[in-house]
Amino acid sequence: MEFPFDVDAIFGERITTVDQHLRPPGRRGPGFATTHRVDLQQQLMTIIDEMGKASAKAQNLPTPITSASRMQTNRHVLYILKDNEVKTTGKGVVIGFLKVGYKKLFVLDRRGAHNEVEPLCVLDFYIHESLQRNGFGKELFHYMLQRERVDPHQLAVDRPSEKLLCFLRKHYNLCETIPQVNNFVIFQGFFSHRHGESVT
Ligand SMILES: CC(C)(COP(=O)(O)OP(=O)(O)OC[C@H]1O[C@@H](n2cnc3c(N)ncnc32)[C@H](O)[C@@H]1OP(=O)(O)O)[C@@H](O)C(=O)NCCC(=O)NCCS
Repeated sequence: MEFPFDVDAIFGERITTVDQHLRPPGRRGPGFATTHRVDLQQQLMTIIDEMGKASAKAQNLPTPITSASRMQTNRHVLYILKDNEVKTTGKGVVIGFLKVGYKKLFVLDRRGAHNEVEPLCVLDFYIHESLQRNGFGKELFHYMLQRERVDPHQLAVDRPSEKLLCFLRKHYNLCETIPQVNNFVIFQGFFSHRHGESVT
C-alpha cells in the first residue's frame, strides 16, 4: 500500500507497534520540531484509516473495525509491517497490519461451562492483496507472539476469515476449535493455560 508521503520517516523499524497514543515511532530526539511530529502523526492516522478500510473490504465488512479514532479509544496494539526493499517510489510501502488487545470474554470450555477470561485477542489482520501468501502474515504474527509473550493456543480470534483459519492451521497447527456462542474462536489447548475462573 503506497502513500503520498514518506512512510520511512514515520516507521523506524520494519515492524512497528502503535498504541492508543498514536505516536509516530520514527525519528525522534532533540531538534525534531513539534510541527513536524504533528504532521507525522497525521500521516500515521491516514495510514491506519486506509489500512482499516482495505482490511474491511477484504473481509466484506460493512465498516472498518480498525481506524485511528478507534485506536485512540481502545487499549489495542497495532503491529504494522513496512517494506524497506521497495525503492520504486522512494517513500516506502506498508505491507499490512495485525491488531491485538486484551478483552474480557465469557467462553465455553469442552464441558460447556462458562469461563470468565481475559485473553489476548486477534482483532484484525490484513496483508495487502498483491502480497498475500508470501510469508508476510507469518512474519508479523510471529513477531507479535514474541513481543506479547503468548503461545498461539492462548489466543482468542474475533470472527476469523477462512483465510485466517487456514493460516492458523498451517503455521501453528491450530485445527480443533472449542465451540462458542459468541464471535470469538478459541482452539484446543486454550484452557491448558489459566486465563480465568469457571463461573458455572
Ligand atoms: C489472513 C492473512 C492476513 C494471512 O497473511 P499472508 O501473508 O497471506 O499469510 P502467509 O503468507 O504468512 O501464510 C500463507 C498461508 O495463509 C493462508 N492463506 C493466505 N491466503 C489464503 C487464501 N487466499 N486462501 C486460503 N488460505 C490462505 C494459507 O494457509 C496460506 O498457506 P498456503 O499458501 O500454503 O495455502 C491474509 O491472507 C489476508 O490479509 N487476508 C485478507 C484479510 C483477512 O481475511 N484477514 C483475517 C481477518 S479475520
